[in-house]
Amino acid sequence: MKILLLGKGGQVGWELQRSLSPLGQVIAHDSDTADFSHPEQVAALVQAVKPDVIVNAAAHTAVDKAESEPELARAINATAPGLIAHEAAKLGALLVHYSTDYVFDGSGSAARNESSPTAPLSVYGRTKLEGEQLIQQSGCAHFIFRTSWVYAARGGNFAKTMLRLAAERDQLKVINDQIGAPTGADLLADVTAHAIRAFRQASRPELSGLYHLVAQGETSWFDYARFVIEWARANGQPIKVAPQAIESTGTASYPTPAKRPLNSRLDTTKLQQTLGLSLPHWEQGVQRMLTEITGK
Ligand SMILES: NC(=O)c1ccc[n+]([C@@H]2O[C@H](COP(=O)([O-])OP(=O)(O)OC[C@H]3O[C@@H](n4cnc5c(N)ncnc54)[C@H](OP(=O)(O)O)[C@@H]3O)[C@@H](O)[C@H]2O)c1
Repeated sequence: MKILLLGKGGQVGWELQRSLSPLGQVIAHDSDTADFSHPEQVAALVQAVKPDVIVNAAAHTAVDKAESEPELARAINATAPGLIAHEAAKLGALLVHYSTDYVFDGSGSAARNESSPTAPLSVYGRTKLEGEQLIQQSGCAHFIFRTSWVYAARGGNFAKTMLRLAAERDQLKVINDQIGAPTGADLLADVTAHAIRAFRQASRPELSGLYHLVAQGETSWFDYARFVIEWARANGQPIKVAPQAIESTGTASYPTPAKRPLNSRLDTTKLQQTLGLSLPHWEQGVQRMLTEITGK
């Protein structure tokens, strides 16, 4: 199987380099060799490689920056994936793509499923939704995995920031009114490999479609921060902030260019039932990442 991996250096792309390697020949590109701001060049690359499977982990993920560069965000998140999908349809290739909880407005407290109405609040959310729609309209076989709150051991992440601040400061304030599920890039990459194998081995084209893919359980950024800091304290990391000095605050007190959904709960029933997979609780993956980054 020939697999074209795009966005190989991102959180998810890096883990995909690992999880896809047992499936076949992986031809991996980053923005230097496959620049999504020139969508037609990426389409030409797909034509030249003629892959059996394309996995697209590239995206304009700078949510606030996207507000001031909507055309670039649209090229990377929508136009390029749309053209890749068009080429995939011509080749009969399977396309795997990732999307986001930001396609929803985050109202209420119920978990969204794949048929819940979308209403993005930001340029990032709108362009990611447009990308989904272009892929669906192309007629190519696809998996679109909507996920949330992605972290990885490699590179910067929320947990690392909290560990640093907790070691430096006496007090911390963290948002408590956005609810979601921290999801490891390693989990996304492993489920992607399972899905590709299920699709190709059993020749089950009916698996093609949109899926919600997040770790189990839910938390707020505030409780996520407390979890990370308490784990670090229990594991002998240098923590200055006292438990009672970690304060919660509302999103409204941190104005940002892009509006974020408060309710990021995603219902993963379809994925678990259709692919026969069981998704782990978010705390399990976060503990593993903390162990990796602290060497504990
Ligand atoms: N991060 C999250 O919390 C989150 C939440 C929900 C959904 N998602 C989705 O999950 C997927 C993977 O996200 P991630 O967290 O792995 O993102 P990430 O770490 O920010 O990586 C994004 C990747 O996109 C590449 N990229 C950016 N501009 C590009 C361009 N012009 N041409 C080609 N590649 C370009 C980057 O490559 P360079 O470094 O070479 O520029 C990088 O490899 C994305 O579809 C994202 O929308 C992420």
